[in-house]
Amino acid sequence: MADKPSTEDILKKIRQQAAGGGESADEAPASESSEAAAAEETAAPAKPAAKAAPKGTSDILASIRGGGGTAKPAAKEDAPAEKPKPAAAPKGTASILASIRSKGGNAGDSGADTAAPKAPAPKKAAAAVPAGDLPPVSEMLQKMKAGKGTAASATVAPAKPQLKIPTKPEKKAAEPETRRNFLLALVATPFALAWTLLGLFSGVWVLAIARFMFPNVLVELPSRFPVGPPSDYPPESVSTKYTAARGIWIVRTSQYNGKDLIYALSSVCTHLGCTPSWLEGEQKFKCPCHGSGFYKNGMNFEGPAPRPLERVGLRIAADGSLEVDKSVKFQEEKGQWEDSKSFVDAALV
Ligand code: FES
Repeated sequence: MADKPSTEDILKKIRQQAAGGGESADEAPASESSEAAAAEETAAPAKPAAKAAPKGTSDILASIRGGGGTAKPAAKEDAPAEKPKPAAAPKGTASILASIRSKGGNAGDSGADTAAPKAPAPKKAAAAVPAGDLPPVSEMLQKMKAGKGTAASATVAPAKPQLKIPTKPEKKAAEPETRRNFLLALVATPFALAWTLLGLFSGVWVLAIARFMFPNVLVELPSRFPVGPPSDYPPESVSTKYTAARGIWIVRTSQYNGKDLIYALSSVCTHLGCTPSWLEGEQKFKCPCHGSGFYKNGMNFEGPAPRPLERVGLRIAADGSLEVDKSVKFQEEKGQWEDSKSFVDAALV
């Protein structure tokens, strides 16, 4: 950076050159006074240019844009090979400064009459890019701000690489939708629907066959069951405690043959098998189907019932309680009520 001439140095050098050019212009006509008068006429207008040396930056730039002043054509005639001019006039401030720096560098290199140190070589970037091809500074800044810089701006500020964030959630959200569409398409197809119905019917048939392999089992209660001690049944009483569950009445009466007996009557009507009801107020069994009536001891007395109710087996168990045995039945018309297994004598218990 120390070797690079600043703008002020360049401008100072330009002023010095402009002042020196005037003097050289003065010297040139002096040395060549013997030549044509036309040369004096061309050198003469160079004096005012040397006397009116530019003092401001704007004046210098204007003079450079305008072709470097009127003194240059005279010097060009004297020494055209020493100061080559650029092919195209610079347009932007940056290009003008670059061209000035390049000129200052060349002047430093060729400045044999000055004792100034050797001028450093201009920067590679400035030398590589022609001054005439550069756009204006404002345009370059605008392009750099917009991120669309040229190759020269790209070398100044390289673009940072941007990281790409993978979009996994979008893929995961798309997978279930695809699977759902596939299943809908599979179910909606007539071929798939037919196979589904066939599978359902096959399943039903398999279940029916499996059920057929297992027979129906009717779980029946045991025919023998206890009904409590004899003391639970007072004289001339009818117990309906086991009627609903076991289909019997426990009766204690002496109306049959004058003996205080306890026996179990079946609750099946001898007409067509209906279940009569015990009417405590009327002291009779009444069949709701056809009106048959039975006394407390089981003898039929009204209705279509052809015979008395049947008795079931009854005995005193080992624990002293009464035990009913429905596996045996006793019919009065057959003289079976005389069997001791059909009753329990209450006087003996
Ligand atoms: Fe009882 Fe007919 S079934 S009267």
